[in-house]
Amino acid sequence: MPQKPYPAELVEQFTLRDGARVTIRPIRAQDLEIERAFVRDMSVESRYFRFLHTLRQLDESTLIRFTDIDYDGQMALIAVVCENGFEVQVGVARYAVGSSGRDCEFAVAVADCWQGKGIAGRLMRQLMRAARDRGIETMEGFVHYGNHGMFALADALGFRTEPMPGDVSLRRVVRDLRESVPASSLA
Ligand SMILES: CC(C)(COP(=O)(O)OP(=O)(O)OC[C@H]1O[C@@H](n2cnc3c(N)ncnc32)[C@H](O)[C@@H]1OP(=O)(O)O)[C@@H](O)C(=O)NCCC(=O)NCCS
Repeated sequence: MPQKPYPAELVEQFTLRDGARVTIRPIRAQDLEIERAFVRDMSVESRYFRFLHTLRQLDESTLIRFTDIDYDGQMALIAVVCENGFEVQVGVARYAVGSSGRDCEFAVAVADCWQGKGIAGRLMRQLMRAARDRGIETMEGFVHYGNHGMFALADALGFRTEPMPGDVSLRRVVRDLRESVPASSLA
């Protein structure tokens, strides 16, 4: 199957308030090892909030599925920094398109020591832009009821929160991508 062209228009660079340079770019198959290290180094709580079950590291087939993507049915943007000459992954936001082709489910995570710096906000805004540009109208995610940081982020990004019928431990956050992103400190 021919490879989908790399969506280089989604590459973005910015500087955090503390001066660190961050690059957001679509993930590549060659990023398997930095994605593996990123998930392995997450705290137990962050991994639980991201995957909604206890897991220590991703198995090989999941890592391949997460990194070798077609940028069509699946999109993933990673945030990377340079540390001691090596590229280190500090965040990821991804979506998978649903069967209608007009809806998608997202997930996002930022390395524990890089949280609270605005990285998830930047990743999510770029991910929402990518989805909108590909004709996707609705984005949803499933959030553990105790994940206050994610609810605050979702709220700042214009998502509304709904109960999940049949699962009291989760809430659904959902957003119509055709509505503009609210202006905020997450610019
Ligand atoms: C939730 C998570 C992705 C947020 O990442 P982050 O990079 O720290 O978020 P940001 O710094 O971009 O925060 C953006 C906004 O979200 C809100 N926010 C994020 N974390 C918050 C927290 N712990 N408490 C309150 N507000 C918070 C704030 O409104 C913030 O805006 P501000 O910068 O103006 O204060 C991160 O904590 C994480 O990776 N958690 C573990 C994995 C997870 O829960 N994933 C969600 C599964 S869908």
